[in-house]
Amino acid sequence: MVLSRRTFSAIVGTAALGLSLGGSAEMCAASTVPTGPAPGPPRADGRRHTVDFDRYSMIVDGGRIVLWSGEVHPFRLPSPSLWRDVLQKLRAHGYNTVSAYVSWNYHSPAPGAYDFTGVRDLGLFLRTAAEVGLYVILRPGPYINAEVDAGGFPGWLTATQGTARTSDPTYLKYVDEWLTAVNRIAVRHLYTAGTGTIVLYQLENEYADHATEAAGRDYMAHLYRKVRADGVDVPLFHNDKGRNGHWAPSTFDTGGEHGRWLYGFDGYPSPFRTPPDWGYFGPGGTKGGSTASPGTPGFLAEFGGGWFDPWGGAEFDGKGYAESRRTRDAAYERRFYLTNLANGIRIHNVYMTFGGTSWGWLPAPVVYTSYDYGAALDEARQPTAKLVPMHQLGHLLHSVPELAELDRAEGLDVGGGPGLRAYHLVNPTSQAHVHVLRNDTAEERVAAVPLAGTTLRVPVPGLDARLLATGISLGQRTLRHSTAQPMLRLAAGRQDVAAFTGRTGETTETALECPGKPAVTVLEGQAECEYRGGALHVHARLGGLIRVLVDGGGVQRPLLLLLADDETSVRLWRHDAPSGTVLVYGPALLRTAVLRDTAAHLSGDTVEEADLEAWVPRGVTEVVWNGQRVPTHVTRSGSLRAAHRLSGAGPVRLPALTGWRRSAENPESAPDFDDSAWRTADRAASSSTTPVPAGGPVLFADDYGFHYGDVWYRGRFEGAADAETVSFSYVTGTQGLLMAWLDGRPLGTHRMPVPDKKSVRQGTWSATAAFPVAPGKGSHVLSVLVRRMQHDQDGRAEDAHKAGRGLASVTFKGASPRVSWRIQGEGAPDPVRGPLNNGGLYGERNGWHLPGFADGGWEPVALPRDERGQGVVWYRTAFRLAVDPGTDASIGLTLTDDPARAYRAQIFLNGWNMGQYINDVGPQHTFVLPNGVLDTHGENTLALAVLSDGSTPSGPGKVRLTLLGKAAGGVPVTLVDSPRAAT
Ligand code: GAL
Repeated sequence: MVLSRRTFSAIVGTAALGLSLGGSAEMCAASTVPTGPAPGPPRADGRRHTVDFDRYSMIVDGGRIVLWSGEVHPFRLPSPSLWRDVLQKLRAHGYNTVSAYVSWNYHSPAPGAYDFTGVRDLGLFLRTAAEVGLYVILRPGPYINAEVDAGGFPGWLTATQGTARTSDPTYLKYVDEWLTAVNRIAVRHLYTAGTGTIVLYQLENEYADHATEAAGRDYMAHLYRKVRADGVDVPLFHNDKGRNGHWAPSTFDTGGEHGRWLYGFDGYPSPFRTPPDWGYFGPGGTKGGSTASPGTPGFLAEFGGGWFDPWGGAEFDGKGYAESRRTRDAAYERRFYLTNLANGIRIHNVYMTFGGTSWGWLPAPVVYTSYDYGAALDEARQPTAKLVPMHQLGHLLHSVPELAELDRAEGLDVGGGPGLRAYHLVNPTSQAHVHVLRNDTAEERVAAVPLAGTTLRVPVPGLDARLLATGISLGQRTLRHSTAQPMLRLAAGRQDVAAFTGRTGETTETALECPGKPAVTVLEGQAECEYRGGALHVHARLGGLIRVLVDGGGVQRPLLLLLADDETSVRLWRHDAPSGTVLVYGPALLRTAVLRDTAAHLSGDTVEEADLEAWVPRGVTEVVWNGQRVPTHVTRSGSLRAAHRLSGAGPVRLPALTGWRRSAENPESAPDFDDSAWRTADRAASSSTTPVPAGGPVLFADDYGFHYGDVWYRGRFEGAADAETVSFSYVTGTQGLLMAWLDGRPLGTHRMPVPDKKSVRQGTWSATAAFPVAPGKGSHVLSVLVRRMQHDQDGRAEDAHKAGRGLASVTFKGASPRVSWRIQGEGAPDPVRGPLNNGGLYGERNGWHLPGFADGGWEPVALPRDERGQGVVWYRTAFRLAVDPGTDASIGLTLTDDPARAYRAQIFLNGWNMGQYINDVGPQHTFVLPNGVLDTHGENTLALAVLSDGSTPSGPGKVRLTLLGKAAGGVPVTLVDSPRAAT
C-alpha cells in the first residue's frame, strides 16, 4: 500500500493522540504498512516518490526502510572524482544512506557570492550519491559546527552586525541568501521529484541554548518556512544535542505541518561506559525518546563512530587517530550500534564514516589537518576492520525487512551473570523475534536464551554484542534460530542463499525449519547436520566460508547456507542491480553490478590476488570484471566461478623528493618595505565580541576583510627613544603565534601556550608578548606577523565565532608613541581553490605556492635543513608519478624531524593548501594527498612555507612520499583544475 501524504499524517496524528491518552490498543497494534521487501537502492529515475515515516521507520514508496547512514563531508575531500570512490565503498559495505553537511564558508568568499563549482560542486556530489544508489540526508546549517572554521560560518560573517543563530534580521538576511543558494541545488536532487535521492534535510545544528526561548523558536520557524518556501518537500528535522526532547514535533511553528517534521538527536557516548539506553523509540517505550516524540521513528542524527583529536594529540595521548579507531573498534560498534537498534533507532547515522581532511584553513582551532576521526573508512580511503560490523548489519537490514518494524517484547532472563544484557524485540506482523545480547564485562559470558522448546546457549565475548534472530524468512525456508548473526539473504537463480556470520573460531548452531528431512550436502568447510524436531540443525566452527546446500524436505527451492567468519563476510557482496540481485564473493570490493543480456558486468577492486564467484539471476551466464570477460564455470553452489584468480595490485613506486629550491621571504619586516597599498588600520569600532582596548584603533584582522591564515601589521612611530619594552596583546585560536621585528631586526617570537589536556578544546587564546627594545631616536617601523589560526565554533550560540583574531593592542614601557598601523592579510580569494586556501604570507600573495611559479632563481638546497632564524622560508620541488592506470594508489606526504625544533610548515600541492605541520606539537606527520589534486600520472609541484621561531634550528627535516594503500581497480580520476602562476 502506498500511503498518500494526507493518509500518512492522519496515522501519525492518531498515534500521537493515543499516547497522550495514556497509551492505547491503537499504539500496540501492528502498523498498517505491510512488511515487504525493503525499497531497492534509490536512483534519480525521473519518477515521483513518496517519502514518509511513522513511529517505526521511514516509509519510502510505501515500503519500510531503516536508514543506515554514514557521515561524509564533500568539503573534506577536494577531489570530486573520489566522492564516487568513497560513496561506492559505503554502499558496498551495507550503508544505504550518506549524510552530508554543507559548509557555508566553503561556498561563500564574500556576501552575496556563492560558488558551487569545481571541488565545491554540491550538485555533482548529490548526483554521484544518486548514481551510486544512496539516499542522502542533507545538512546545510546554516550553522554546522563540524570542527570547521567558525562552525561553517563564512569569515566575512564574523565582521557583520547581527547576532548569529537568532532571529536577528541582519543575520537572517544573510542566512536567507545562503539557503536560497544551497536550496537551489538541493531542490534539483530531491527523491520526491525523482531527480535525486535527498530524503531528509536538517535545519541548524544542535541548537540547544535558545531552544526554550521565543527568539530561538522564531529562528527555527523562520528556517522551516524558508526551506519549505524554497521547495524542499522531504521531511525536515533537527539534531537535538542529546535526547532532551528539544525540537520534537509541535514545539515550534511549522505552519501546521506536523507530519513532516522528525525528531532526531545526537549521541557521543564514552566508549568506556555502558552503552546508553535512551528509551525505546516505538510502541511499548516508557521513557525518553518515545515520550519526546511518539509519532516519529527513533532517529540518531549523529552517533559517534570515532572522535576528533586536538593539536598535540591530547585526546589520544599523542597516538593520533589510530587510537581513536582502537577505542571505538569493531566490538564497540557492535555493542553501541546494536544497542541503538535494540532501542528502536531506525535512522542511524555514524559520524564520521569517512572523516577526510580539513585542508587549507578549514579546521576549527580545536583540530589539526587530519579529520580521519578513527572512522570506518580512513582518511586515505582505505577500508578498516571497523567496516566489518557495518557491512554485516547493513546488509542484514536491507535483506530482512522485518527489522524495520520491531516492538519491544517481554524481557527474557538469559542468566550469564551481571553485565550481560539482553534486549528482546518482535515483529508484530511476522512474529520474527530479535535478541540483542550485550556483554559489558571484559570476560566472555554465556547467555541462555529461552526459545520455544529449547534454550540456546550463546557465548558473547567480553565487551562485545551480537544479534540473534528467530522466525525470519530466508526465502522459502524460515530460520528457527541461529547462534550466528544473520547477515544477508537473496534469491539467486533457482535457489535461496542466506549468510550468517560471527567471529573466527566460534562454534555455531543454525536451525532451519524443514517440514520433511532435506538432502544436505556440505560443499565447503566442515559442518555437522542433523534433522530433528522438524528442523535441520547445522553445527559448524566459523572459519573461511562454510557452504551447506539444503534441498527438498517439502520445500521447493534449495537453500545455500553460507557461514562466514568476519574476514570472509567482507568478501561477500550483495548488490541490488535494477534488474536483479547478485551476490559476489572474493574481491576486496564490489563497486557496481549491472545485468545486461546474459552477462553480469561487475566492477570493483582487488588488493591481493582473489577468487571471483557470482550468484546471479537466471539467464545470466557470463561475468565481466572491470570490463574484461572472465571465463567461468557453474559450481555446485549454483554460482559462476572464474576459472582464474583475479590479479592483485601491482607495485607502486614513489620517487624520492629531491631538487629542492629555497627562498626566504618576509620582506615586510624590512623598514623600507613598501606597504602603501596596505589597508590603514584606523577603525574605532569592531564587529568582534572581543573588547577593543581603550584608545584603539581596532587591529582585529576580520574588521579589515582578512579572514584566513596569516596577517601582517606594520606600525610606524617616531621617537620613543626611552622605550624599554614593547608589548603585543594578541588573540588567536589554539597554536597561534606572533613574530615581531623592529626596524628589520627580529624582536622574537611568541607562541600561545601549548594547551594542557583540560583546556585543549578551548578555541580562543589571548596573550601578551613583551620584547625588550631600544629604538633610539627617529622614525621606526614595527613589523608583526600573526598566525591567528582559525575562528572559534559557535556551539553555544553566543557569537563565539566573532572573537577577535590578530593584534588587539600594542603598548610600550617607558614611552607612549603614537603608532600608525597598516594591515595586510590574504589577497583576493583563489577563484578555484577557494577562500580557505590562502592566508596572507608574502609568498602566498605572490603565487609562490602555485605550479609554474618561476623559482629558477631560488637557491638549490638538499633536505634535511638545519638553519636558524626567525621568519618565513619557502621550499619548492617538483616530482613525477607514473602509477599504473589500473591502480588506485593513495599517497601521503610524511614530514619528520627532531621534535625539539620549533617550526611549522604549510603544505601546498599544486597550489592546494593540504594542511599545516607543526613539528614540535604534532601529532600529525603524514598528510593525505588526494588523487585529482595529486597527478598520479604526471608532474606535481610541492611547496612548503616554513615559519621558524628562531629559538631552535629549523627544518624541514625528512620529507617523503608514503604509500597509504593501493588496489587494482579504483574509480576514474579527473584532475582538479590547478591554475598555474601567472607568468
Ligand atoms: C557534534 C556536532 C558535530 C561535530 C561533533 C563532534 O556535537 O553536531 O558537528 O562537531 O559533535 O565531532
